[in-house]
Amino acid sequence: MCGIFAYLNYLTPKSRLEVLDLLVTGLKRLEYRGYDSTGVAIDSPDSKNIVMVKRMGKVKVLEDAIQEHFTGGEYSEPVATHIGIAHTRWATHGEPCERNSHPQRSDEGNGFVVVHNGIITNYNDVKTFLRKRGYEFESETDTEVFAKLVHHLWKTHPTYSFRELVEQAILQLEGAFAVAVKSKHFPGECVAARRSSPLLVGIKTKTRLATDHIPILYGKVLPRSDSTSEFMPLEEKEVEYFFASDASAVIEHTNRVIYLEDDDVAAVRDGTLSIHRLKKSLDDPHAREITTLKMEIQQIMKGNYDYFMQKEIFEQPDSVVNTMRGRVRFDGNAIVLGGIKDYIPEIKRCRRLMLIGCGTSYHSAVATRQLLEELTELPVMVELASDFLDRNTPIFRDDVCFFISQSGETADTLMALRYCKQRGALIMGITNTVGSSICRESHCGVHINAGPEIGVASTKAYTSQFISLVMFALVMSEDRLSLQQRRLEILQALSNLADQIRKVLKLDSKVQELAKDLYQHKSLLIMGRGYNFATCLEGALKVKELTYMHSEGIMAGELKHGPLALVDDSMPVLMIVLRDPVYVKCMNALQQVTSRKGCPIIICEEGDEETKAFSSRSLEIPRTVDCLQGILTVIPMQLLSYHIAVLRGCDVDCPRNLAKSVTVE
Ligand code: M6R
Repeated sequence: MCGIFAYLNYLTPKSRLEVLDLLVTGLKRLEYRGYDSTGVAIDSPDSKNIVMVKRMGKVKVLEDAIQEHFTGGEYSEPVATHIGIAHTRWATHGEPCERNSHPQRSDEGNGFVVVHNGIITNYNDVKTFLRKRGYEFESETDTEVFAKLVHHLWKTHPTYSFRELVEQAILQLEGAFAVAVKSKHFPGECVAARRSSPLLVGIKTKTRLATDHIPILYGKVLPRSDSTSEFMPLEEKEVEYFFASDASAVIEHTNRVIYLEDDDVAAVRDGTLSIHRLKKSLDDPHAREITTLKMEIQQIMKGNYDYFMQKEIFEQPDSVVNTMRGRVRFDGNAIVLGGIKDYIPEIKRCRRLMLIGCGTSYHSAVATRQLLEELTELPVMVELASDFLDRNTPIFRDDVCFFISQSGETADTLMALRYCKQRGALIMGITNTVGSSICRESHCGVHINAGPEIGVASTKAYTSQFISLVMFALVMSEDRLSLQQRRLEILQALSNLADQIRKVLKLDSKVQELAKDLYQHKSLLIMGRGYNFATCLEGALKVKELTYMHSEGIMAGELKHGPLALVDDSMPVLMIVLRDPVYVKCMNALQQVTSRKGCPIIICEEGDEETKAFSSRSLEIPRTVDCLQGILTVIPMQLLSYHIAVLRGCDVDCPRNLAKSVTVE
């Protein structure tokens, strides 16, 4: 949650207005991470002070405020070296308002200003400590203690460098966070650090960098005079640095980035970047690698679509192919998952598979559990990460634990990963974000390759997670003679999937018409069972998060155990009834609903007149193998929630109270 963006230009003249423009654009790319308030800090025209602008609401509000605020000609003057920091917030401590927005400051003179993502759990203790030393607090945030603690250290240790002050502050703090700090006492310098919240540094130089690695420096806090040798020059004078919570904010400037690791402190002084760690552990590398991003700027633009979510729904014919690309050989019926192939013998010997995730990622586990049980012949447990942790679930060395996450940064999932890793289980990451914490902390994994997903509601990541898990099941059953026919049937269906998704997407205008019937209702029940139960859960989650309507995904077999009481002639109901092994049972449920005067919308197979006859409103989807139906049935649900949200005037890409990446527990 929360987006951090900082920009430092060294000997590359830019006016403050240009810097502000860069900061605002960076925040727009990160807005999906939180959007209840925003802020920026830059140098004053005489470079002696720091000026901040903060606003409640989305980045657009801040952009307008900046236009009003920075009118003087002095802001158009180029400055050779400057550092600006910016933030978009998802409130955790203190309501969304200007006072609680970041940057938070150390004192009225804005000596140190901080942008922060995550939670400082011992902030109350630190606050008490600082209050006793005369500090007064102006916000309810945990972030403010960071700014004031750095200030206190600066006063008590006047010889410390900026980096050393930040390091010392971090040593006193507990929790999961990422920070970027600017100071009027250290002009032209920036210090950033991470612990369990993502942060990367983008580097832009005129010519290719002389090195692909930045050495890591270790050691105790040293007096400022002794510490200059720590800085390893990049052999480039003019340089620009971008500190950001994720790569989408830097890709339009540079594709050369360093992903910071937990407890890294990155500092720029005299245009030179150093990465420092206070403690050295045995498995620490000697340097941080500069990675080249493969992402393209077009991937994070809306193109001709009105919303990112809409674009991402319509990208699915391509994204599912990208998930399979280079992995599935349809001619030879072979599948290779490079990221796990060396672990397959170990996985085959395991006691059980545990699939762990949150929200939509959890639903992809529900969707594929049955197939995994069938093709691996292993017990498969599916767990919500938060509940899994609450229960202190027993984990054994011969368990294989899958951590499914689009962002790869979800705190609950990451905590569950660490819990299982400590207990010796094999850790497999299923993520969409290269370089994310879950990716880096897993023993092996599958990258789902869906491409950047910006809309807060997850769509294409779900179908790609689904396919990744199906591919895993196919790999596990490669040498099982009795399962070959089933495997062939699934492979055949996978090869037709993109075309079938295209066909389902053609239902868009029909779905829009249905949305017109539904959008003024208060509730929507979505029923199904077997392979389509996950679609009911996922459909209901989409409706809730995007439209703020109540919605419930109901296992059709459970209807008579309670939910049937909700059904009458006015309750909107949607039922998924496909010609699969549970068809007869679904038809029973359908009849139970219609005999209570319910009038469900039915998702059924193309040409299934018998099922369609039960309702005047139906959506027909192409026939595919039972275990992949969920990919085709979820798309009308994505479209329906999207259209209802538009009709209700909701903010499709940024639903209220939510954020894309939930990096707090
Ligand atoms: O990044 P992750 O896949 O770990 O995120 C998990 C959930 O927060 C996420 O799927 C959430 O439920 C979506 N907003 C649903 O559309």
